[in-house]
Amino acid sequence: MSDPGPSAKNSLAHILIVDDEESILRFLEYSFAAQGYRVTRATSGLDGIAKAKSEDPDLIILDVMMPDISGLEVCDHLRADAKTRFMPIIMLSAAGQVDDRVSGLRSGADDYVTKPANMDELMARVTALLNRTRRMQSQADSSKRGKVIGFIGAKGGVGTTTTVLNLGTLLALRGKPVTAIELHAEFGSFYRQFGRSDDENLSDLMALDPALLTARTISARLSLAQSGLKVLCGPRSHEELAELDDERVLKIIDETAQMTEYLLLDLPHSANPANAAACKGCDLIIVITSNEPDSIQSAKSMLDVLKSWGIVGNMVGIAHVTRTALGDSMPLREIARTLGHEIVGTVPFAGDLCAASYNKGVQLVQFQPGHLVTSNLNEMLDRITAETLTGLRF
Ligand SMILES: Nc1ncnc2c1ncn2[C@@H]1O[C@H](COP(=O)(O)OP(=O)(O)O)[C@@H](O)[C@H]1O
Ligand SMILES: [Mg+2]
Repeated sequence: MSDPGPSAKNSLAHILIVDDEESILRFLEYSFAAQGYRVTRATSGLDGIAKAKSEDPDLIILDVMMPDISGLEVCDHLRADAKTRFMPIIMLSAAGQVDDRVSGLRSGADDYVTKPANMDELMARVTALLNRTRRMQSQADSSKRGKVIGFIGAKGGVGTTTTVLNLGTLLALRGKPVTAIELHAEFGSFYRQFGRSDDENLSDLMALDPALLTARTISARLSLAQSGLKVLCGPRSHEELAELDDERVLKIIDETAQMTEYLLLDLPHSANPANAAACKGCDLIIVITSNEPDSIQSAKSMLDVLKSWGIVGNMVGIAHVTRTALGDSMPLREIARTLGHEIVGTVPFAGDLCAASYNKGVQLVQFQPGHLVTSNLNEMLDRITAETLTGLRF
């Protein structure tokens, strides 16, 4: 995201100035407003407490010596109230003694500036404190972000969509909030299982202005499966869409990740900027390969692409799907060695079951909860949702 520059950044910050001296209030109000800040004034300690609660400012500049109650008491009061506990406060006082500074900081102020205030210093401290607060806020926000796991097939038809939807279904059946997105520009296949012909999908989101890609507009286009899995379908046909662009793709991922505990992405095997953005938005990427030699070669080329995007090490795992009834042509150990990544799971051949569960309109793991395919997928799920990724031992 581009930097909007100091004044644009400040235009959103709202400062509450608490001081009983009219001349100081007027000077500070003028100086901060000139920098693009929104300013509210309070003319006493009690007024300061009331406005801190009613106006919800981004930062408070608080005089210590006031006739009704002192700034230290105001500070105590604000720190004791859940609504104002974390509001950034800069104390302002004529007293420049170390003792006063210490008691100001002890009462919970974040910083302390002596009067007469040097405006350059005060401005710099305000900016620094606002930035620090924003950093802490975005850290807190990002810890709420769900885990984003991308799945890329070595080529079409290796079983990527089947794996994504079954892992998503298992997560939902475990009671986890989970959403799956089919981030394909054309020929999606989610809609065949979840969509109605009039549903809006990824194509419609791609037509919106990026600023309109919010929790609300995305949620409105999610379909809910019977298991509890939420899905955003890709386009129904090649006519329907859609160029995927990196800005919208990333926004959709970020917004959706805030709404769920797990976000599974069905990604294309492609090296374009939109796929790069999607992959960089993932916490983990699983490349899915079958046991055929050309699939393994194709997986290797995708891994090279990921590497060129800086996606390496145990941010990447390999899943192996046996797509044909013919026996394995390459042992798992050799596949792991050839591809240079851990194998996080294998899915045995299940041609008839895939077709039968599809006809029933449910995922394979619901249709056959006791089958080897289901237990293998459950094991794969344990590995990819663990703190650190470890592969199969063979
Ligand atoms: N383990 C499996 N055994 C047999 N057939 C499978 C298996 N997994 C998927 N399939 C079948 O392979 C076809 C392609 O699967 P799909 O998941 O759509 O692949 P992709 O998303 O990689 O194109 C589907 O008909 C699906 O039912
Ligand atoms: Mg697919």
